Parts: sequence; C-alpha cells; structure tokens
Amino acid sequence: MIEISHVTKTFNGQRVLDDVSLTIKDGEIFVILGESGAGKSVLLKHMVGLLKPDRGQIRLDQRDVTPLTEKEWLALRKTMGYLFQEGALYDFMNVFENIAFPLEEHTSLTHEQITKKVRDILQLIGLQGVEQKYPAELSGGMKKRVALARAIILDSRILFCDEPTSGLDPIRSRDISDLIRNVTRKLHCTTIITSHDIANSFRIADRLVIIKDGKVAALGTQAELKVSPDQFIQAFIG
Ligand SMILES: Nc1ncnc2c1ncn2[C@@H]1O[C@H](COP(=O)(O)OP(=O)(O)OP(=O)(O)O)[C@@H](O)[C@H]1O
Ligand SMILES: [Mg+2]
Repeated sequence: MIEISHVTKTFNGQRVLDDVSLTIKDGEIFVILGESGAGKSVLLKHMVGLLKPDRGQIRLDQRDVTPLTEKEWLALRKTMGYLFQEGALYDFMNVFENIAFPLEEHTSLTHEQITKKVRDILQLIGLQGVEQKYPAELSGGMKKRVALARAIILDSRILFCDEPTSGLDPIRSRDISDLIRNVTRKLHCTTIITSHDIANSFRIADRLVIIKDGKVAALGTQAELKVSPDQFIQAFIG
C-alpha cells in the first residue's frame, strides 16, 4: 500500500503539488490523469524517491519513506520497476543486454539463470526473436515493450509507468496498455501509471485520480468518475 499524505511541492515559487493525499491499494492498477504540466510525473517521482516533498509524507507498506537517504532509496528501488516517459533504453546494448542489465547489476544469478529469465520475460511480453536487435532497429511500440520487460525483470512488487502510451499509434497504445494489465495480474504487482490517454486508462485502471492545479480533482473507479457532477471532470473525461 502506498499512502500519500498532504504532499506539497513547490519549484521556484510555483506550487506543483498542493496538499495531495491518496492511497494506492496492493495489486491495483492506479492511473494518474491530468493535463500536461498538472504534476503527474512529479507525483510519481515522489513515490520512487527521486523528489522529496516540501511538506507531507509518503508511506510504503506502513513505513514512512519520506526521510530516507539516497542510499536507502537505492535499496528500496530494487523492489520497484520504472518505465520512464522517454523509454530510456541503452542504445549501445541489444535487447537481450538491456533486459538482462538489472539482473547483472543487482543479482548474483549465473549466466544461464539470467538467460532463462530474459527468455521468459521476452515470451511474456511477446518479443521473441528480437534479442539481438539494437534499440535503433526497433519501432516505438517495441521499445516500450523492451523497456517494460526491463522494468519487471527484478520481479518488482510495484511497477511505475510514466506515459506508457505516449508517442504510440492507437493500436500500439491499446496493445501496451493490455500488456501492462496482463503483466500486473500475472506478477501480482501494484501498478501506477500516469497518462493523458483516457480511453486506455479506462480500459485497464482499477481506480484513477485526476490532478488539476496540483490538487486531487477526482478519485475513484471509472464508474464513479463518470457520474461526477464536476464540470471540469466531465469535460476532461469527455
Ligand atoms: N525538477 C524540476 N524543477 C523545476 N520544475 C519542475 C521540475 N519537475 C517538474 N517541474 C515543473 O512542474 C510542473 C509539472 O511537471 P510534470 O512533469 O509533473 O507534469 P506532467 O503532468 O507529468 O506533464 P506531462 O503530461 O506533459 O508529462 C511543470 O510546470 C514542470 O515545469
Ligand atoms: Mg509527465
């Protein structure tokens, strides 16, 4: 369980998060929606310790992680997977090496064990046969898949996806969204996604939050958001 309590964050006098409180339950797919610049990525970065709140608290499984040092966060992040907004694969490594990298860095598995794990993940993600290719040889959708594979290879308990469908066509967007849902159910992890993509968010989310002007404008299931009397919410979700 992730509990965000009264988190406030200001950059150069601009209040980006303003007293945000919400709880993410174990095993759910939780989507953070909002207009560009609303503070979605900033909120996500607080959950992985890349940003610290000016005020407020973040708790992971009852533990207050707000005061953790960078070293403590490094240990904690090994239990988390992170799919960056830009994808961020290593251009000089092929697909196999990109996916194997966290295992080489953070585990003492043998070469055979790593190979098996990477093959299993490639199968789960539907990417067999491209192990030897380099990122420059892949389409945008395939790169997202490889980045997703790398994000979950350490058996992450929590998966963070920052704009997993940005830059993809509608078919690939749907594809990667469904893949994230399937992976979440299969690995029994908790998945937090930021997105502009209302249709795919509604397809896969258990619950959603809409951030507006740094505040929680709405929070609930798709059905709950759809009956919100708030005009902004109705306009936003169309
Ligand atoms: N490290 C930082 N230093 C200063 N300002 C920042 C920093 N990170 C984010 N901001 C500002 O905070 C605001 C929210 O940024 P954020 O990246 O969270 O938006 P977002 O909702 O993720 O937008 P998008 O949908 O475009 O990804 C923006 O105005 C941005 O310029
Ligand atoms: Mg963002």
